Amino acid sequence: MTLPHIFRAMKTGEVIREFIAKDGRRVILRTLKWEDLDDLLDYINSLVEEGANIIRTEKVSRMEEIEWLSRVLATQEKGEIFTVAAEVDGHLVANSEIMRRPGYSRHVGVIGIAIKKGFRGVGIGTEMMKALEEHARKVGLKVLTLSVFASNQTAMNLYRKMGFVETGRIPKKFFKDGDYIDEILMTKILE
Ligand SMILES: CC(C)(COP(=O)(O)OP(=O)(O)OC[C@H]1O[C@@H](n2cnc3c(N)ncnc32)[C@H](O)[C@@H]1OP(=O)(O)O)[C@@H](O)C(=O)NCCC(=O)NCCS
Repeated sequence: MTLPHIFRAMKTGEVIREFIAKDGRRVILRTLKWEDLDDLLDYINSLVEEGANIIRTEKVSRMEEIEWLSRVLATQEKGEIFTVAAEVDGHLVANSEIMRRPGYSRHVGVIGIAIKKGFRGVGIGTEMMKALEEHARKVGLKVLTLSVFASNQTAMNLYRKMGFVETGRIPKKFFKDGDYIDEILMTKILE
């Protein structure tokens, strides 16, 4: 029986599935684990350095990453967050999560996803989104939401392909490289 109000807690490092990306590389999708710490630090700081369309603008110290990962793994054990990381040649190259909203919105999951430069455009994002959605359905979530920079056409293409539609826009939510950029909220109702 699916309990509508509790995520099935996933173990750390639990393998979800493996596949071959469009460039021939073998990819393992799995939940996060402690051993990801150094790869995660490299991953987040490379996204910041690149100026990727993520909220964070400042590099992260190892101590901050230890604190972040401890919180995520504890929340994962409680079943309130579900992570899908992608591993290639023994290293984490992408991460994503669904965070269950609290209170009257416990049927809603908020998605975040980012793939390291050099590993994009070969289908990893698509497979991660599929894995997130499958888990969301299993644990009884009814609504998935995410937010994206209006300038991030690549991400919006992925989300539209996965069945998300634009359901809101906050004008000028971000200021990046001298320009204001709208935030777009996208939603998928899980039937
Ligand atoms: C956005 C992101 C998650 C997409 O993941 P990805 O692994 O590169 O995507 P995929 O290879 O699975 O492609 C998925 C779809 O995205 C679109 N897409 C991918 N690369 C694209 C590009 N260069 N230009 C336009 N659309 C593109 C296509 O619609 C593609 O579907 P298709 O291959 O069936 O045509 C990834 O590019 C990324 O992490 N970018 C940096 C961080 C970021 O922007 N995160 C999202 C924040 S909201």
